[in-house]
Amino acid sequence: MTGTLKQQYHLEPPQGLLNDPNGLAYFNNKYHVFFQWNKFEKDHSYKEWGHFESSDLISWEFKYSAIIPDQNYDKNGVYSGSGLVIDNKLYLFYTGNNKENGQRESKQCLAVSEDGRTFLKQGVILHTPEQFTEHFRDPKVFYSDSEKCYFMLVGAQRKNGKGAIALCSSVDGVNWEYKDILCATEQYEMIECPDMFQLNNTDVLLYNPQKRDNTLDTSLYSFSAYKIGSFNDLDNDFSLLDYGFDFYAPQTFSDENGRRILFAWMSRMEEEQEKIFASDTPYIHCLTIPRELFIKNNMLYQRPVKELYQLLGDNINLIVEDGDIKRIKPKEHMFYLRIKNNNCMQNVCINFHQDQTKLEYNRNKVKFTRKNWVTNKPESKTCNLKSLSEIEIWADNSSVEIFLNNGEKVFSSRIFALNTEEDIILKGFSEETIIETKEIISKL
Ligand code: FRU
Repeated sequence: MTGTLKQQYHLEPPQGLLNDPNGLAYFNNKYHVFFQWNKFEKDHSYKEWGHFESSDLISWEFKYSAIIPDQNYDKNGVYSGSGLVIDNKLYLFYTGNNKENGQRESKQCLAVSEDGRTFLKQGVILHTPEQFTEHFRDPKVFYSDSEKCYFMLVGAQRKNGKGAIALCSSVDGVNWEYKDILCATEQYEMIECPDMFQLNNTDVLLYNPQKRDNTLDTSLYSFSAYKIGSFNDLDNDFSLLDYGFDFYAPQTFSDENGRRILFAWMSRMEEEQEKIFASDTPYIHCLTIPRELFIKNNMLYQRPVKELYQLLGDNINLIVEDGDIKRIKPKEHMFYLRIKNNNCMQNVCINFHQDQTKLEYNRNKVKFTRKNWVTNKPESKTCNLKSLSEIEIWADNSSVEIFLNNGEKVFSSRIFALNTEEDIILKGFSEETIIETKEIISKL
């Protein structure tokens, strides 16, 4: 074990493969984060729900398995889903996957817990309506105050091979009926992990369009998008939730203070990348840090939840060198960096992980570069940004999450920087720029 890749404040399992966050809920004074887990292998051959629990969103206890594939209807995988507190019990909605002779069957299922520790399966609560193929999964359940009923969104593929989000309803959370297609896409073959909530009295939809080869029944690529207000056209005028390399299947929940908190799977790695990344570790993948969501100027802003700032430790010194170059030398890859300027920044660059990772802002464009650990070549992601006044970086041993303009744009990526000394070089920041770097203390 190389040590340097192990995350210090991100949720990752002790073994196997993690993917989507599931069943997020605040229940019995605890935060519950479930996740897609293959506890046996670092691949996708098995799926159950693993479980983390916390009372403060920063120190977490790993509770091992919550729901395992032990029924006929879920024997090939306890797939993604959501959590909701109903009548003082934690209801967990998930997709049971059954594949016999290559034939997929998806069933929406329910498990209920009274104590947050044991989860009793209640069986199948919804069969796939006739409009859809068996790519029908990832139920997200919420309560509507105005309609006085529960709604379930399900990621779906229509019989014509194109994606959609199905809408179902229930008065008690147990008996469900299919209502209608909430919205559809003509460009993507599937929508995975939909989520919907209200912020400032405005509807927000999160969805993950997926391009598939329907003949081979394989996924080609997918990404996370959102829409605010109207959802009629999923194919146009959507915004990306994150501009980095590794972000997918985000899920949100509301906590006891009504905050809307998001976790996502911090990976879009390809198989070859996974293999090399995890060659020395018994596990692969982690979740993002928890982020609180806000709406500002009709855009979705993401900011690290305020509890995370309790992890910040001593200041790290800034060394001023010749010209406009400043250098910071944290003890390890894990560090916090915040840069603020009342005027818009121009032609600035932050270089870290010994030149392997870079953030540049130039002519209204942000460019993030990392070293691809399969090709050993640099690769970049960009986004347009009219002005830049604040950069906040949360780096862990093998990831960076970069929040720009107080959460207007975010870049999340895994980094494979083995055994290199950390050395952050800042270029182009003017005199009046406030630069703050701190150590991060792990509480995991
Ligand atoms: C998204 C996803 C979901 C599915 C789960 C299986 O990453 O493909 O649609 O329920 O992963 O692990």
